[in-house]
Amino acid sequence: MSARVPVITVDGPSGVGKGTLCQWLANRLGFHLLDSGALYRLTALAALRRNLALEDESQVAAVAAGLEVEFLAVTEGAPRIVLEGETVGDELRSETCGNAASRIAALPAVRAALLQRQRDFRQPPGLIADGRDMGTVVFPDANLKLFLTASAEERTHRRHKQLNEQGMNANLKNLADEIAKRDARDSQRAAAPLRPAADAETLDTTRLSIAEVCNWALMRTRRRLGLPKNS
Ligand code: C5P
Repeated sequence: MSARVPVITVDGPSGVGKGTLCQWLANRLGFHLLDSGALYRLTALAALRRNLALEDESQVAAVAAGLEVEFLAVTEGAPRIVLEGETVGDELRSETCGNAASRIAALPAVRAALLQRQRDFRQPPGLIADGRDMGTVVFPDANLKLFLTASAEERTHRRHKQLNEQGMNANLKNLADEIAKRDARDSQRAAAPLRPAADAETLDTTRLSIAEVCNWALMRTRRRLGLPKNS
């Protein structure tokens, strides 16, 4: 049944604006949203809380397989995330957690442990899937595959603004270094590296506003799924 449920994948590097676009698109179409990065971040957080070494592939994979997490819809904005009975907020969005996520995301057993959990998000009426390997590995049969890029400088500025808006301090230079390190690790790893699927449509968003990116994605989605113009 799930194979017939439409899915739109949005992949790209850190800070490119996938989260903002995906939330907007899911909201606009009334589709479900998969924030796959959150699953890697939650696994990293749960592993750190258990004092595991992030390189310990079998232990971290066991944490991923048994992850007790709920994504609770809220009226506006990102869902409330409950990990093992406790709401997690800023801690999950920090660059420290993003980096830890990127380290454990390079481990094939961890990726394998999260695969089915991600596919289970494909529920009617449809899914918007945000990540690095949504179009290449998790949903290779997606109806539409989008891939966003932006210059490293622009992505650092976007992430800096986002962290500031969430009340988290971030030093621009450190952030630039961390994003560069994370991008390099995500694109050079052997397991599901960050890259556009062969049939993905790529958009360089460096000089585009959020509204322009959202409009680009909505037009393509409507066309591909045969949705009415006012959807
Ligand atoms: O997107 P976000 O910054 O929350 O992702 C955190 C990290 O999780 C990424 O840097 C990446 O290493 C990993 N990730 C992944 N595959 C995905 C989503 C995220 O490897 N589909």
